[in-house]
Amino acid sequence: MIKKISHIAIVVPELKDVVGFWVDALGLDVAHTEHVPEQGVEVAFLPVGESDIELLQPTDTQSGVARYLAKRGPGIHHICFEVDDIEATLAHLKEMNIPLIDEQPKYGSDGKKMAFIHPKGTHGVLVELYELPPAEMEQHQEASDDLRRRLRDGREVYTAGAKAFLSRIRHGR
Ligand code: CO
Repeated sequence: MIKKISHIAIVVPELKDVVGFWVDALGLDVAHTEHVPEQGVEVAFLPVGESDIELLQPTDTQSGVARYLAKRGPGIHHICFEVDDIEATLAHLKEMNIPLIDEQPKYGSDGKKMAFIHPKGTHGVLVELYELPPAEMEQHQEASDDLRRRLRDGREVYTAGAKAFLSRIRHGR
């Protein structure tokens, strides 16, 4: 069962060039940034309600995301749904003859399970599935409750890491 949209991922050539729109103009906050060397990307998460915008900047010209950017230009890269049981979802999709990139889920370092559905089977949209481990679901809930509280109490929402990130990309590395 699909629980919600976890995130919408957008590939950009340079994170520093798009912060002006996403943060300054739209007023979203960067809650979390991460360098993911296995995927050759730097990622910034901007919460929107109970979902996130995930900005992806390729850091390695050979990565799948870099090739996507070179071929198709900046734009939406994938949509991720959070599901309650990723194995059951993949089995169901397989039964429906939907081509999968990952027939078995991959594990993130935090215990999260992830799999991609092939865009051939989704009318051109790369779809990702997430199943969060139970502990993280609680943490996630706590984190978003906390974020909501802090937003209410005066928008002091940047984590130290995100603050440093913003100042780094604004003032150059
Ligand atoms: Co994703």
